[in-house]
Amino acid sequence: MKVTVIGTGYVGLVTGACLANLGHQVICADISVEKITTLTSGELPIWEMGLDGLLKEARRSERIRYTTNMDFAIEEAEVLLIAVGTPSQPDGDADLSHLWSVVHDLAAYNLTNKLLIIKSTVPVGTTDAIDVFLHQLSSDHHPIDVVHNPEFLRQGNAVHDFFHPDRIVVGCASETARNIMRTLYNGVSAPFHFCNRSSAELIKYASNVFLAMKISYINMIADLAENLGANIEDVAKGMGLDKRIGASFLQAGAGYGGSCFPKDIKALKTLGQKWECELPLLDSIEAINNERPRAIVNKAKKYLGSLIGKKIALFGLTFKPMTDDIREASSLAVSQLCIAEGADVHVYDPLVHTYPVQGVTVHRDMYLAADSCDSLIILTEWEEFRDLDWSIISKALRFPLIIDGRNMFSWEYMRQHAKEHHLIYLSIGRPPM
Ligand code: UGA
Repeated sequence: MKVTVIGTGYVGLVTGACLANLGHQVICADISVEKITTLTSGELPIWEMGLDGLLKEARRSERIRYTTNMDFAIEEAEVLLIAVGTPSQPDGDADLSHLWSVVHDLAAYNLTNKLLIIKSTVPVGTTDAIDVFLHQLSSDHHPIDVVHNPEFLRQGNAVHDFFHPDRIVVGCASETARNIMRTLYNGVSAPFHFCNRSSAELIKYASNVFLAMKISYINMIADLAENLGANIEDVAKGMGLDKRIGASFLQAGAGYGGSCFPKDIKALKTLGQKWECELPLLDSIEAINNERPRAIVNKAKKYLGSLIGKKIALFGLTFKPMTDDIREASSLAVSQLCIAEGADVHVYDPLVHTYPVQGVTVHRDMYLAADSCDSLIILTEWEEFRDLDWSIISKALRFPLIIDGRNMFSWEYMRQHAKEHHLIYLSIGRPPM
């Protein structure tokens, strides 16, 4: 099929590359000349595992093209897929200006027999409104069909998630649309869940917020476990073995970040307010998450007292490993709190080399970042930290305090190393040592 993907952010680009890999002829369109120039020259505007190879293969087999020319991109396509960003506005509502701007542009073309897929995360009712808008303008007997097909791609694992989804959710109103969607995803083995467009839109928000709720829940229990001498890892494992609960997203730590969970909780809250439907759980999910950075700083203060003049090393600046994205990362709040408390903050991340928090010193070498620090705080569980040489770290630190904000090291492993190198090792929801 001929597919045009409009919007080449991480969702659009990954989707385009994967669809080309499934055998479709894909055009990736964007209004950003800079992004399209970068892509045309074979470079990537974002870092995503496996994407580079997939795009190279798609170019080699001539299944992918990049353009800023919307005439060409729209006229060529049988399927149009919109994957533009829908960031939060100051009031928490999703900003749909990019999406509607694309839809208004589309309205100027002959869209007969085409299928329009809304992939962007949008407030419930948006896809129906787009359908109404395009149909009002059309005098055609075979007007465009509009579907909502939410994405469940984790950054850093997006290519894998595209090819191995748990389900493909499609909100649509016609059998024709269902059949096109089956053809589009031919080659991906996953059950289709067909429903109406509003349900599909709500599935996206309800799923993301549910995952965020699991994280806040386990963090809440972790704080309790810490006081009781229990080990949150054992607790989470014992809970997760129950299939009704499930083991994933029960990793206690510095809290969730990124561009999705915080934004989607805000958008769902706004939706509840709009329909005068109370959603009290959402405030608790946010409140627990907002407290995570403070809880980590308090751990440091418990051992160091005042942070004035103390040197703190922060390892891991991104909101999770395998991405260069620092949006809503816990490192931002932790570094700001440390600076506000008078600390001298030194940071290291494998991918982040410029950091927006004023006053922090960014290092390219993790051992230099830890040099003469009073505490080393790990905020993202990057694989390379697993190989930390504790003898170098213990010599580098002025005070031997390690705070593992992601429980990335097993308690037994660290007990051995802490003893050997005279380290104080604190983690989340586990007994101190
Ligand atoms: C999330 C969803 O997982 C995807 O399904 C969805 O498509 C995407 O949002 C989106 O809406 O576009 P993402 O934000 O990339 O994906 O990252 P996750 O892997 O879900 O992690 C989010 C945050 O939760 C990270 O900061 C991570 O460190 C944290 N987390 C995750 C925990 O603190 N504990 C856990 O057990 C799992």
